[in-house]
Amino acid sequence: MKILIVGSGGREHAIGWSLAKDGRVAKLFFAPGNAGTSALGENLPLTVTDLAGIKAWCERERPALVVVGPEAPLCAGLVDELATLGVPAFGPDKSGARLEASKIFTKDLLLRAGIPTAASERFTDIAEAKAYCAARRYPLVVKADGLAAGKGVIIAQSLADADAALDQIMARKVFGPSGDSVLIEEFLRGQEASIHAVTDGTDYVLLPSSQDHKRIRDNDEGPNTGGMGAYAPAPIVTAPLLAEVEATVIKPVISALRKAGIDYQGVLYAGLMLTPEGPKVLEFNCRFGDPETEVLLPLLETPLLDLLLATVERRLGRLDFQLKNQCALTVVLAAPGYPEKPVTGQVIHGLQGASPMLFHAGTTRQDGKVIVSGGRVLAATGVGHDLYDARRRAYKIAADIRFEGKQYRLDIGKKALDLLERDA
Ligand code: AMP
Ligand code: GLY
Repeated sequence: MKILIVGSGGREHAIGWSLAKDGRVAKLFFAPGNAGTSALGENLPLTVTDLAGIKAWCERERPALVVVGPEAPLCAGLVDELATLGVPAFGPDKSGARLEASKIFTKDLLLRAGIPTAASERFTDIAEAKAYCAARRYPLVVKADGLAAGKGVIIAQSLADADAALDQIMARKVFGPSGDSVLIEEFLRGQEASIHAVTDGTDYVLLPSSQDHKRIRDNDEGPNTGGMGAYAPAPIVTAPLLAEVEATVIKPVISALRKAGIDYQGVLYAGLMLTPEGPKVLEFNCRFGDPETEVLLPLLETPLLDLLLATVERRLGRLDFQLKNQCALTVVLAAPGYPEKPVTGQVIHGLQGASPMLFHAGTTRQDGKVIVSGGRVLAATGVGHDLYDARRRAYKIAADIRFEGKQYRLDIGKKALDLLERDA
């Protein structure tokens, strides 16, 4: 069968790597893909938000399945468009993607379903929002309602920070209409963890727990990024804690979506704060995390294709879903200047003979060479019998890659290893 993967990051390369191993897959296509995906299939000159272009290609080529990686095309309604052609696509339709597209929609859904989350107020009027902030204690969290490329959440340490955030979001509209409404939230303390579930709207399977590393530098210092590394499973998410998340978050959100008349199919990615009072939802994403995908997919025992098809065909309840009893860790190699102003164009050395789990993100082919073309360049993934083993393998792959100004964190997985050592 022919499969189209929409996206161009490490996540989409990892999805392609998983599917390329499957004898049932005749050919993979990527829209638009990167240098890594071009070795697995054909890259198409289509951007992820070119819905008309993707639809026209699907009408012509009739892929058996489309896998939508990033949130933007899901939120714009790509899955709805493909449904009109009868082309099955993995991922929620536009109504389901509101779970990521609107923080206020999600907050309402969580409250209705009694799912634990930070207390909050919402505002459409900047003066009212500022008056509210003036009467609060700090830190306080200011969130633009809509999509903001991961930048719409500001942790305000003071009233001055909160005012500046509100000016940015609501007055200067740096995130466009995403800033028409804001949510002002209580600051939660604890460690963060992510739980990915895949659901067909009724049944679901849980993927291993994971932790991302958002800041650019070691010890969680420096500015936020799209993610500098991840590992799975996260030892902080013990079996009882996972069962609690399943009972208090995953099951109720699936039934709340159904009650809201939403036929949700695809990934439910719950971003959680593990607070002393229990896990609370920080956010939901409507797609696989990046770089979490790079550690989750290598841990699937069940072929990814079976998971994706069972989801779009609404028969997840009958899938014998199995995970590997292994650990995975990924280290993101970023361009110099990332995240503020990534410098691109450098030649990447050391790719020849590199691990197939060196997933590409911001890479492109030029004159027979592979060059840096984005902020997050590669995700070096190791899989092992424990996290130490996975980490050693990932860092070996990371060290063997060379490009000018390469930056990466040396402490990916440290929180987990500290925890394991404490408990040993
Ligand atoms: P979100 O996009 O809502 O997950 O927010 C991005 C990041 O902001 C999260 O991964 C957290 O690190 C942080 N964050 C969001 N909401 C809160 C909160 N209520 N309390 C503390 N940190 C938060
Ligand atoms: N790793 C964070 C995200 O995919 O949103």
